[in-house]
Amino acid sequence: MPVLTVTTRDGSVRDIDGQAGLSVMEAIRDGGIDELAAICGGCCSCATCHVYIDAADLALLPPMEADEDDLLDGSEHRTERSRLSCQIAIFDGMRVEIAPED
Ligand code: FES
Repeated sequence: MPVLTVTTRDGSVRDIDGQAGLSVMEAIRDGGIDELAAICGGCCSCATCHVYIDAADLALLPPMEADEDDLLDGSEHRTERSRLSCQIAIFDGMRVEIAPED
């Protein structure tokens, strides 16, 4: 089972056992962390599932689509490590940090 390491907004670090095939947003939600509103349910229309990906892990992800890029442009907290967690699948050893709320 892939293990995802999540840093929450207060700096706490938690390891979550996720099911293969889940998105990062789903794994975080199912892991009992309630900091991601994810109000669109994962259909890439809200940007409330914004996370920062560990720099080394970022290179292992597929590039983002234009709609994800456009949504992230609306965030005051976008960085070069930003992704929408509903748009990426978990993998073992992945490390993410929940971005501040916009
Ligand atoms: S949950 Fe809405 S964009 Fe990810």
